[in-house]
Amino acid sequence: MKKISLTGIKPTGILHIGNYFGAIKPALELTREYEARYFIADYHALNIMKDPEELADSIRQVAAGWLAAGLNPSQVIFYRQSSIPETFELSTMLMAFTSKGLMNRAHAYKAAVQANTEKNADPDAGVNMGLFTYPVLMAADIILFDSDVVPVGRDQVQHVEMAQDIAQAVNFNYKSEILRVPQAAVQDSVAVVPGLDGRKMSKSYGNAIPLFAPEKELRKLIMRIVTNSQAVEEPKDPEASQIFLLYKLFASAEEQQALAARYRGGGMGWGEAKEELFRAANRELTPLRQRFEAFMAEPEKLDAILKQGAERARPIAAATVARFRKAAGI
Ligand code: TRP
Repeated sequence: MKKISLTGIKPTGILHIGNYFGAIKPALELTREYEARYFIADYHALNIMKDPEELADSIRQVAAGWLAAGLNPSQVIFYRQSSIPETFELSTMLMAFTSKGLMNRAHAYKAAVQANTEKNADPDAGVNMGLFTYPVLMAADIILFDSDVVPVGRDQVQHVEMAQDIAQAVNFNYKSEILRVPQAAVQDSVAVVPGLDGRKMSKSYGNAIPLFAPEKELRKLIMRIVTNSQAVEEPKDPEASQIFLLYKLFASAEEQQALAARYRGGGMGWGEAKEELFRAANRELTPLRQRFEAFMAEPEKLDAILKQGAERARPIAAATVARFRKAAGI
């Protein structure tokens, strides 16, 4: 039997190239080896997003984005967290096995408290219970679907470890393997994708290239990549240039070698290097962009896919809750 891979996708609006190479592609690669269950974590997003239109739009963008990037909904169970009410049953039951101290130690909560303390504000100012109990909800997301591995970024490892602790506390109490204990699969081998200014690509730095930018915008953004003042004729070190690092993500090994030789040989200016990057990026991104636009134009189709996913997901979730309730004497 195949092992189960599960991950939650926070609907944070527009996806960028860093998300694609850092999270989406590696998670989709896992779907060959694992039975995959990937969901849109919309209740998690509610903790921070209170504008209904913004949230609804983010959910749609992210769902369409993953589908356009190659998520195959007949192979992956793809659903919205909010379509699985069992999440809340399990989450409530897990609360009974989660010490408050564990939540006090969660990075996101600790960071909020520290920021408040530094401002001499009430330590819990602006902290809602959704943020405080976030790790329990995430543990429920994971445990509900018998997850073996959870592909996440480094910042989420602590949350997966908390899910492990909580599942183990339940199993220990009932002296039986009621809940499957998950492992984090940190996606480390993935290169950091540089942004327009050379720092890591991130929405918060304002240096991101949107994954589905229209061709014209894509070109304009690439032309805006910050470069040094080396003249056209000067030989250039490809590995020291974020233009080349980005090019590598889109080009074949032969293409990379050929272009690296042109960098080193001198006679190629940054404008031309950017033009080469644009060509390679646009070649890979055009079919994705077209699929994305098609999904965005047909929200009913998107909703139907997610609904179908939820229909496949719910019996699995119900079985976990039933097993736990029986063990608990409820
Ligand atoms: N907390 C994750 C993030 O911020 C999203 C998430 C929610 C998640 N539930 C999950 C990830 C379950 C993995 C498994 O990115």
